Amino acid sequence: MVSPPTLDEIATSDLTPLERELALASFGSNPPHAQTGVAADNPHLEAWRARLDGLRTRNAIAKPLRACGRLTRAAGLVLEAVGLRLSVGSEVMIELPPGSTLAMAEAEVVGFAGDRLFLMPTTEVHGLLPGARVFALESAPVEDPMTGAKRLPVGWGLLGRVLDASGKPLDDLGPLAAVDDAPLTAPTINPLHREPIHKVLDVGVRAINALLTVGRGQRMGLFAGSGVGKSVLLGTMARYTSAEVIVIGLIGERGREVKEFIEQILGKEGLARSVVVAAPADVSPLLRMQAAAYATSLAEYFRDQGKHVLMLMDSLTRYAMAQREIALAVGEPPATKGYPPSVFAKLPALVERTGNGPAGGGSITAFYTVLTEGDDQQDPIADSARAILDGHIVLSRVLAEAGHYPAIDIEASISRAMNALIDDKHLEKTRMLKQMLSRYQRNRDLINVGAYTSGRDALLDRAIALYPRIEAFLQQGYRECAPYDASLKALGSLFTEGG
Ligand SMILES: Nc1ncnc2c1ncn2[C@@H]1O[C@H](COP(=O)(O)OP(=O)(O)OP(=O)(O)O)[C@@H](O)[C@H]1O
Ligand SMILES: [Mg+2]
Repeated sequence: MVSPPTLDEIATSDLTPLERELALASFGSNPPHAQTGVAADNPHLEAWRARLDGLRTRNAIAKPLRACGRLTRAAGLVLEAVGLRLSVGSEVMIELPPGSTLAMAEAEVVGFAGDRLFLMPTTEVHGLLPGARVFALESAPVEDPMTGAKRLPVGWGLLGRVLDASGKPLDDLGPLAAVDDAPLTAPTINPLHREPIHKVLDVGVRAINALLTVGRGQRMGLFAGSGVGKSVLLGTMARYTSAEVIVIGLIGERGREVKEFIEQILGKEGLARSVVVAAPADVSPLLRMQAAAYATSLAEYFRDQGKHVLMLMDSLTRYAMAQREIALAVGEPPATKGYPPSVFAKLPALVERTGNGPAGGGSITAFYTVLTEGDDQQDPIADSARAILDGHIVLSRVLAEAGHYPAIDIEASISRAMNALIDDKHLEKTRMLKQMLSRYQRNRDLINVGAYTSGRDALLDRAIALYPRIEAFLQQGYRECAPYDASLKALGSLFTEGG
């Protein structure tokens, strides 16, 4: 017979708390002294061991416990549940009564107060009952740092497809092929490991290629009021940019526009190398935010395979507005222009995921459109976006109204990576052109009423002479492609011929 353990052995062995307690209990109320050992013929110990073995066997075949809480409140966008202890961002399932279209509603934990969890539904919740049971989604193995993060489909089979915020196809092209899955959130990249921006990216738009040169891995903002041509410009870039893969996020735009963008602006050739994620204005704010995160994780997936990805997101403002809706609904106090502080934390968190990856890998060049309400460049989202992006292209309503497309306001726009990308000659020509444009604009009224007589300002004279050619240089039809080299040549010829 095996000799029973001494107290010392019990204390130092790696028994579970229950086993330790049972082993100690076997000594009865009067345990022997540690040094003397346990009587070899303790009948209790054998009995407890047998009982423990029985428990282990039952435990092995038992089904895992399904923790569940109860729904206590549903007000506005937010539901409240008690009885569960879950982290913010976890997913839950809420039971719906029999006969509902869905068996269960899905929701995400967006906050808590004491033991109450705030949930935001991502599906239809029509028919929810007070006291409905709320279940935590089973979590994945713990070795993965992204455990618990929601995973959505990614993969090469998604090219040419149009998906919703949950990765389900919106087109009628059948189920997705060759699909992998990736977490919606990603660990941040060490800024020192990122490859610097040092290679020019040809975007197919003359004014941008020549005067606002964009580099691979740069993140740019496209700032404009509504109807000034943001979507059309994004479409032109999607068609003509020299990128291997394009990921397009259509966030919070009108539903009608999604079809229009895909069919008319993007076109067949653009779509063939793109994945489109669309979450129009009528889907829940959580899904609008999820669509932006999903588009970003798709771009990350292709970048991590060494590809040069172009990401176009229309619009970053709608993403911020979705976060505002959620934050206000869970009781966060509004700060600047009704935007709660969490909005300004979410923007850089999303934008920082794009850009260059570690040296030698792929890149994500990103264009985010930013709505400037009433063409107000001081809008808090525009302000915050300007600070976190590597440059901004401002579209001007005045130019658009004059039929000048793309309506890029060259003076107000800047590409912060440009100086490191281009040579001195190119830089000098850009500087000259900007000077002439600005001189012309400032004196435009004088010139138009004939109050300016030539000979008083040499630069202005030159600007007046060149202006028609500058205007023609800046304009471009949206079905026309202007490759980088041709754009530089055109810029050079402005000054050599007739300058
Ligand atoms: N390059 C262009 N050439 C000709 N017309 C253009 C061009 N760009 C824009 N437009 C005109 O401007 C209109 C609005 O453009 P677009 O839909 O891109 O604006 P938007 O800024 O995306 O608007 P919203 O804020 O409503 O989304 C187009 O329907 C088109 O008529
Ligand atoms: Mg648009």
